[in-house]
Amino acid sequence: MDVTKIENSEEIKDEAEFVRLNYKELSAAQMQIKSIEYFFNMNKRRTVRDFSSKKISREIIENCLKTAGTAPSGANKQPCEFFVIESPEVKNKIREAAEYEEYLFYNDRAPKSWIEDLKKFKTTPIKEHLSKAPTFIAIFSKPYDLIDGERKNNYYSIESTGLATGFLISALHNANLASLTHTPSPMAFLNEIVGAPKHFRPFLLLTVGYPEEGTLVPKQDRKSLDKIAHFL
Ligand SMILES: Cc1cc2nc3c(=O)[nH]c(=O)nc-3n(C[C@H](O)[C@H](O)[C@H](O)COP(=O)(O)O)c2cc1C
Repeated sequence: MDVTKIENSEEIKDEAEFVRLNYKELSAAQMQIKSIEYFFNMNKRRTVRDFSSKKISREIIENCLKTAGTAPSGANKQPCEFFVIESPEVKNKIREAAEYEEYLFYNDRAPKSWIEDLKKFKTTPIKEHLSKAPTFIAIFSKPYDLIDGERKNNYYSIESTGLATGFLISALHNANLASLTHTPSPMAFLNEIVGAPKHFRPFLLLTVGYPEEGTLVPKQDRKSLDKIAHFL
């Protein structure tokens, strides 16, 4: 039935604002396989800190960003913007600014306990990956949009940006790319370098690429299900 053609029924008119959900029921066995396969794939994801300089096809990055764009967001405001950086000049500027903040963090700003927690990663203020990795994605969260100079509020912008970022990280992993969630703090330098307006809040800097051959990652466990989930 083409509901848009029926004009005299309020009820049906309302229905015209909706589309049918694209959903096909699967058997429990199929669902079990899909869920375990997804877990096995995601369980292989690791944060990588050594990248090769091999370039990534633009289309792959675009597809992963489109996936990020499918994340749920408060009142569907989609308050997240991504700046993809491949230019060596821009990357150099980011490395310089990030290392400056990291230096202050490691030597002054970070509480002792934080530095202690970071020891096992053997990270330092020197961020070699910011020269080698082919692509950075600077992610911004917008508490409001400016439309013709007027503020239009977004809701749960941080939560929504976190979800979109999670979708992006899993899409990159699914495409067999590695990423590093990097949070030099504060990150206001990103606005200036990429030319993002002042009301864009820098959320994080994702370094993306192929892992360097033979890369090592810290040996670490993930909490078991009973530590992260509660069934009532
Ligand atoms: C919000 C957030 C900020 C992070 N910031 C940094 C960072 O600045 N530098 C870094 O080397 N890793 C950073 N990480 C990566 C974490 O150290 C890493 O995700 C964690 O150790 C778990 O390891 P895995 O991702 O390999 O499972 C960050 C992760 C998150 C979620």
